[in-house]
Amino acid sequence: MCVAVTEAEVRDCIHAGARTVDEVSKRSFACTGCGGCRESIEEMLANGGVLGRASRLCALPQSA
Ligand code: FES
Repeated sequence: MCVAVTEAEVRDCIHAGARTVDEVSKRSFACTGCGGCRESIEEMLANGGVLGRASRLCALPQSA
């Protein structure tokens, strides 16, 4: 089961200093379900918190 984590929450984690998917997971519980959002989180880590249009996070409503 996926967890309810929004793009904004992941971005906040990155801005607060998270530098790996594991660090983001520990802070927000993102990517602690099926793991299907791992690539999206890696993309955000590489882009300073920006998520590409084609990516998704935990199949939940996205906020800009
Ligand atoms: S853990 Fe399943 S999409 Fe994030």
